[in-house]
Amino acid sequence: MKKIIGLLLVLVFVGCSTINVAEEKKTEKTKETKKIVVAHRGASGYLPEHSMAAKSMAYAMGADYIEQDVVMTKDNELVVLHDHYLDRVTNVAEVYPYRKREDGRYYAIDFTLKEIKGLKMTEGFNVKGGKTVAGFPERFPIWKSDFRVHTLAEEIELIQGLNKSTGENIGIYPEIKAPWFHRHEGKDISVAVLKVLKKYGYTQKNDLVYLQCFDPNELIRIKTELLPEFGMDIKLVQLIAETSWDETMVYEDGKAVPYNYDWMFEEVGMEKISQYADGIGPWKPMLVTNRSTKGNLIITDMVKDAHRYGMVVHPYTFRLDKGRIPGYASNFEDMLDIFYNKVGVDGVFTDFPDRAVNFLKVKKIRGY
Ligand code: G3P
Ligand code: CA
Repeated sequence: MKKIIGLLLVLVFVGCSTINVAEEKKTEKTKETKKIVVAHRGASGYLPEHSMAAKSMAYAMGADYIEQDVVMTKDNELVVLHDHYLDRVTNVAEVYPYRKREDGRYYAIDFTLKEIKGLKMTEGFNVKGGKTVAGFPERFPIWKSDFRVHTLAEEIELIQGLNKSTGENIGIYPEIKAPWFHRHEGKDISVAVLKVLKKYGYTQKNDLVYLQCFDPNELIRIKTELLPEFGMDIKLVQLIAETSWDETMVYEDGKAVPYNYDWMFEEVGMEKISQYADGIGPWKPMLVTNRSTKGNLIITDMVKDAHRYGMVVHPYTFRLDKGRIPGYASNFEDMLDIFYNKVGVDGVFTDFPDRAVNFLKVKKIRGY
């Protein structure tokens, strides 16, 4: 029932002033000329995801924006981690074996910042048959060197510090992770993130920040309630998932059920999103279907529709690891060519920012 009411609220909200907003956004869109590279979890193809080292490397490689996935700790600190669990990238299971929940996971929200900072962080791994196996076997080796989890503020200070020392102006691309989960645990992660962004000067549309989230209800709340309350107006990006991934959940009678993303793929999906967001972050196959072949690219209408309503499109995730380049592309650069030039996206999330930056330079796509 709550879900139905939520959806009705979205529909009522997005139904207002549709044509005027779309026209305004079209005008804004004409100003957007530069194709961008977003360093996905830093230069995560080369160094452990979300480590400070990966962020510095992405910066040096010339990424336009560097991504931060953000979750909250027990003591309300914001840390940069992809999962709201600690067990895929740290030695939490070894240090705190008795602090897992019933589902076997170690939740960041159950640990203080001090405890989390005391853990070793590594390249992502899975546990198979009692053994740790690297998620990407050809990447940086697991458990080597010394990496630690850091806060959102610490990462912003790194990027802003580099902006000062290099004279460059690289942006941030934070993602509020699982706001539905945090809220259920009594924590308002969105308010905490906005406070940090405001403190560090990210308050206006033309500031170098995109705030992304998979949860449409939360993005609508940010747009309509929180940004006005904070006197802020920054760019928002709606990430798009498949319903079956359980990326966003809603609570119905106390039980978490998957949020239904189907409406985003309907004809009016982009128009509705454009009422509260400045861009979308779709999964690559939502733009070029996996049925595509080298001679026959099947490109969906999503980019065309998003552009019609003035939104930018930044698909995820461009990887060059084995098995990660779709069969319709000859190699990584061909995949970039397809997306930047044939599909017409405005930017890409990639674990290999050097390759995308170089591609845009070689193709003279963004005014080098
Ligand atoms: O935020 C864009 C992309 O990062 C979404 O996927 O799961 O890597 O956060 P994920
Ligand atoms: Ca992300």
